[in-house]
Amino acid sequence: MAVREILKMGHPTLLQSSKVVAEFNTPALEQLIEDMADTMVAANGAGLAAPQIGVLQRVVIFGGGENPRYPGTEPVPHTILINPEIKHLNDSMEEGWEGCLSIPEMRGLVPRYREIEYQGYDPQGNLIQRQAHGFHARVVQHECDHLDGVLYPFRIKDPRYFGFESELFKP
Ligand code: NI
Repeated sequence: MAVREILKMGHPTLLQSSKVVAEFNTPALEQLIEDMADTMVAANGAGLAAPQIGVLQRVVIFGGGENPRYPGTEPVPHTILINPEIKHLNDSMEEGWEGCLSIPEMRGLVPRYREIEYQGYDPQGNLIQRQAHGFHARVVQHECDHLDGVLYPFRIKDPRYFGFESELFKP
């Protein structure tokens, strides 16, 4: 069990592109994934990408039951995805509120493709291929953006819809 420090926006590593994972089923990859899972769970994240803990490799994890940071969203299957690729199935987009463990206490309204197909590999190198829509599709797009050095505020269309949770969602 190792909860790692999560890099915050402003750290230059978060702006870099990550490298393709060349070898599956290695102790180093297993350790990375374990650390990512521990870190995500400790922070109540809906997902986490390797660069957020300072590792520039194309590995993301996401999903796993109800998330207190995103109440009312449909469950996303718990997934470890390596070398992911995303295709949007059509041009339909929708806006939704996103947060990021690298940008604590803030939320922004971000357009994402509504329906996608994604693929990648599990830690043993088995192919994962799925279609997703809605929140599931949003989470995958958000996490995969991290692998190309893209953070959600870069995609906000109207900066007025970016702010602190405590102010945006005041009862
Ligand atoms: Ni994020």
